Amino acid sequence: MKVLMICLGNICRSPLAEGILKSKVSKNITVDSAGTAAWHSGSLPDKRSIAVAKKHGIDLTDQRARQFLVEDFDRFDLIYVMDKSNYVNVCRLAPNENALKKVELILNESHCGKDLEVPDPYYGEDDGFENVFQMLDEACNQIKNKLENA
Ligand code: 4NP
Repeated sequence: MKVLMICLGNICRSPLAEGILKSKVSKNITVDSAGTAAWHSGSLPDKRSIAVAKKHGIDLTDQRARQFLVEDFDRFDLIYVMDKSNYVNVCRLAPNENALKKVELILNESHCGKDLEVPDPYYGEDDGFENVFQMLDEACNQIKNKLENA
């Protein structure tokens, strides 16, 4: 199984989602992340994401931002987006129905059918990152169960 986490910049939310899910699942499950925008390509995750992950025993410093590519629809089985804007931006690149079916709001794993969004913490205070961590941790517990029962 291959799982891709998507946000806008690939420096705040999706690197956390990648690190959290990797910490929960076995190595035969591939987890990666990307951004819909290319602005931060090649950059480390945001210092505040690195710090909140570290506080919870997760290292994000081997990650570098990259932009989402159309080829990712072939490379990944599940594509989790953080918010509705990411959803629209990813879905409009989908080449076919099968690709579209891979895309889901990540919080629908923990809050089924509610279409909740992971708020963008980039311009906010540091506690926004802890809040995002907790939301993603809860969703990743459900994703782990789903993958392990597949
Ligand atoms: P992310 O957060 O999508 O969670 O990585 C953002 C990072 C950077 C920007 C916006 C959101 N930005 O405007 O540069």
